[in-house]
Amino acid sequence: MVCGIVGVTADEGFSQEPLGKLIKDALKRLEYRGYDSVGLAVITNEGLLEVRKSKGMIDYVSRKLGFDTVSGVSGVGHTRWATHGKPSDENAHPHTDCSGRIAVVHNGIIENYKKLKEFLITEGHSFTSDTDTEVIPHLVESFKKRGYDTYEAFKKTVELLEGAYALAMIDIDDPRKVFFARRMSPLIVGLGTKSNFVASDVVAFLNYTRRIIVLMDGEVGYVAPNKVVIEKALLNEGMVRWTPIDVESRVRVVEWSPEMSSKEGYDFFMLKEIHEQPYALASTLSGVVDAVSEASRVLARSGRVLLLGAGTSYHATLIAALLLRRYADLWAEAIVASESRWWLSTLSQGDIVIGVSQSGETIDTLKGIREAKERGALTIAVTNVMESTMTREADMSIYIRAGPEIGVAATKTFTSQIALLSYLAIKTGELRGVLKPSIANEVYNALRETPSIVAKILKNEEERASVLADKMRTKNNAYYLGRGLGLPIAMEGALKMKEIAYVHAEAYPAGESKHGPIALIEEGFPVIFVVLSKDEEELIKSNIEEMKARGAYAILVSPSNAEEASSLADFCFVMPVQHEVASAVSYVVPLQLLAYYTAIKKGLDPDKPRNLAKTVTVF
Ligand code: F6R
Repeated sequence: MVCGIVGVTADEGFSQEPLGKLIKDALKRLEYRGYDSVGLAVITNEGLLEVRKSKGMIDYVSRKLGFDTVSGVSGVGHTRWATHGKPSDENAHPHTDCSGRIAVVHNGIIENYKKLKEFLITEGHSFTSDTDTEVIPHLVESFKKRGYDTYEAFKKTVELLEGAYALAMIDIDDPRKVFFARRMSPLIVGLGTKSNFVASDVVAFLNYTRRIIVLMDGEVGYVAPNKVVIEKALLNEGMVRWTPIDVESRVRVVEWSPEMSSKEGYDFFMLKEIHEQPYALASTLSGVVDAVSEASRVLARSGRVLLLGAGTSYHATLIAALLLRRYADLWAEAIVASESRWWLSTLSQGDIVIGVSQSGETIDTLKGIREAKERGALTIAVTNVMESTMTREADMSIYIRAGPEIGVAATKTFTSQIALLSYLAIKTGELRGVLKPSIANEVYNALRETPSIVAKILKNEEERASVLADKMRTKNNAYYLGRGLGLPIAMEGALKMKEIAYVHAEAYPAGESKHGPIALIEEGFPVIFVVLSKDEEELIKSNIEEMKARGAYAILVSPSNAEEASSLADFCFVMPVQHEVASAVSYVVPLQLLAYYTAIKKGLDPDKPRNLAKTVTVF
């Protein structure tokens, strides 16, 4: 499952607001992780377990079930993206034991749940859902019946679980504690005043604290209002021994502020994040010299470079690979992370694998990094989330500093990834003596201009993108064509259009479009051409003519000096003339806006595209 979980425990006087409201607000910030059902469980001031959960999105469910009115001393909450068991009221978390005293929320997959469930049924436990998670409260109940206290029973349960999990649990018999465990799914402890938290992501509790502990695989523990206990399993002669961890030494302070994760007046996070790109780019570029210095040195001495990513991050790796080949004269290839095993087997020492991932948690990319390490390659993580799993596991990590991205569709992290990876490629070229410092400086200067160029594009093109969206909303299909650096931009434009506006959008190398795709063109079929520099104008002109001759509606994203090409198009986003590397950063912006406004005009919620979750932590 890709889900969001949260747990909180608080002393009296911590907040005027009921705990249910606090949990609901935290879940709202985690909604990007899944949103097909939602629920909470709270131990009330009277010592009862109150569980409210349902299929549906959080605002609707919370209103229907009155989340805001539930008061208590501790609680857990969950927002779900279904894997085991369809979205339904029964399958929504939290799940409870037979006696209704224990409640559990879970992100991950318990692989051996069927075996555990069969055993529990023979013990007389009855189940109400199809989920893998429900075995957990019943196992804890079973251990408690054999005389263990809640924490011991929880640890005994964790010892039996196979698979991936981030867990939070409350129990009436120990009401002020939230018990937790982590294996392969992210989980973070937040240290508040008179309160402590656990959550899948820091954004859940940023309103209360920026002091965090990132939990590691194999750790379990609990938070009470003024106490945190973490233990790690050590195997000793086949027996699990739980060893305490020094909590103080693990505390970190995160930079992000609560305002950074709220909508600040925008209707949707996606639009807010599109508009944040000038600031995100400025933030990325302000730290880029230090950020890439070590990685560029190792790249300069490397054999081959494989870049792994999924979705939008994969598109960023395509650009990076192209730039490493072109400007650093390196053997570099971008690979979709889920297909990387066919490449990783060829790795040897001296090779480098770069994992690019906004979240640093995408399981396919993470797996690629792990395998590459095993094969002796040096691994580098490029992520937006400090202390994410990938950052911790790779030999080296670079943080893009774009700020929290909540919208499911990646926007500002894409432009920041490209800016950072471009800088890295050019620096590597300089260190290898392939690029003269004067040429490299020209590119660095062009990259430094990108925040103001993107601000200009947003100002000039937003209204026009919204007008064009009136046409796009009536279309079921579109082609996005490009060459060279323009192709990954076209691919990213098509992905945005597909995932939030549900238009079947397909990206193709422009030159390849004659070899089949053109057969689909009929009157009014939208074809979007991405042209990054005037050098490509001649070739793209003939592609536009071919498409138009068959009735296509030609849309162009091109520099202002490509006048002949733009005069052929039906609609043109006229972009500032820049170095092609800087154009690769900024030319996606009108395509993000076009997808956003097409979704809005179709009445869709761009922050919650159907069937998608922002972070994919399952294969
Ligand atoms: C698309 C999108 C996804 C992610 C992909 C990888 O808008 O957001 O395609 O890019 O799931 O996620 P990260 O970058 O977190 O590894």
